[in-house]
Amino acid sequence: MSKYKIAWLPGDGVGNDVMDAAKIVLNKIRLDAEYINGYVGWEFWKKEGNPLPDRTIKILKDTDCCLFGAITSKPKIDAEKELNPKFQGKGLEYYSPIVKIRQELNLHTNIRPCKSYEGNPLNYMEGIDIVVFRENTEGLYAGVEFFPVPLDVMKCLMRNHPNMNRFSKVKLDNIAISTRIMTKKACNSILIKAFEYARKKGHESVTIVEKPNILRETGGLMIREAKAISKKYPEIQYWERNIDAMCMWLLKDPLKFDVLVAENMFGDIISDLCAQLVGGLGFAPSGNIGDRYALFEPVHGSAPKYAGQYKVNPIAMILSVKMLLDYLKEERYAEIIEKSVADVIKEGRVRTHDMKGNNKTLEVADKIAEKIKQSLKR
Ligand code: NAI
Ligand code: MG
Repeated sequence: MSKYKIAWLPGDGVGNDVMDAAKIVLNKIRLDAEYINGYVGWEFWKKEGNPLPDRTIKILKDTDCCLFGAITSKPKIDAEKELNPKFQGKGLEYYSPIVKIRQELNLHTNIRPCKSYEGNPLNYMEGIDIVVFRENTEGLYAGVEFFPVPLDVMKCLMRNHPNMNRFSKVKLDNIAISTRIMTKKACNSILIKAFEYARKKGHESVTIVEKPNILRETGGLMIREAKAISKKYPEIQYWERNIDAMCMWLLKDPLKFDVLVAENMFGDIISDLCAQLVGGLGFAPSGNIGDRYALFEPVHGSAPKYAGQYKVNPIAMILSVKMLLDYLKEERYAEIIEKSVADVIKEGRVRTHDMKGNNKTLEVADKIAEKIKQSLKR
């Protein structure tokens, strides 16, 4: 029996391309693992009316962790149109399988490191080393939305909040409501994870990214918890920034920031911005970590226009493999992979189109694998 069981979920579009690249790297280190293929994504929505079949959830529950490519999500209208006619009109609704996995398996902590590797021509600045901690299960992505708004929901809101009066005359199918739900428990959890990480890695500061001046209740809760928790980490500087100002600060002075922590949607937004500071989505890995399970994936999506062309950069995915190995406490392999990625970037001989090169996805993976082989010999 293998030491590890890893769920293998390529998903849609370039998810498949970059997972092939991940396999090249994993084969090179000869990790003692069994990889179990699972189905997820738009193709399964179209075919089976469910983008996350039960058999896939079972695979997740039977494995140690998961490597995930990317999925395609489309708005409601397209979801209905593209569904196999035999399932149409049966009340099936598309949902994002990755959001569902995060919630079902309580993968509460989304860690997104953004590092400018030396010699990357796409670096906005050299020396950037930011890690985003994104709350992964609630906030604006909690999934509680209404359209049309049920009458009793409307009445209840009107009874309980004077600001609803402005909307009292709007017809129920002329208004949509999305809720931002934040619990003390989840705020605490993401904050503690961020501070602990900063302590362990010797980072100078933790910045909480919120908007408590406008989102007074949810933002207020997060900030109150953050202030209290920060007191337990006196050696780490505690900063607060509003999400809008933070976008400006990250462009103005990215070297100033270390660890950022944010609610689900703000974390999503800020991590794409941070990714671009270090070369774009082709360089941004991530880990979705829970108490008993973890899923690793590049930050990018399925990039449909490049699907199957093996043109996109596999580095975000290969760095996600590095994070997976850290999670499995295979730190030596993790280190070798990161160093090999850094060496290939620095040499600059093999580059995908985003780096203005002509190399294919798997050529970059092969080059990284070659470096890994050299390191393993040492
Ligand atoms: P995207 O991340 O798929 O692509 C945006 C652009 O970023 C691409 O057109 C490409 O220019 C660049 N890019 C992405 N990955 C790259 C790579 N590995 N190397 C080089 N360049 C890369 O985001 P988009 O276009 O907003 O969404 C496409 C689909 O992906 C949508 O259906 C969306 O819902 C889904 N999505 C899925 C995610 C996931 O699976 N976790 C995350 C984000 C989007
Ligand atoms: Mg995103």
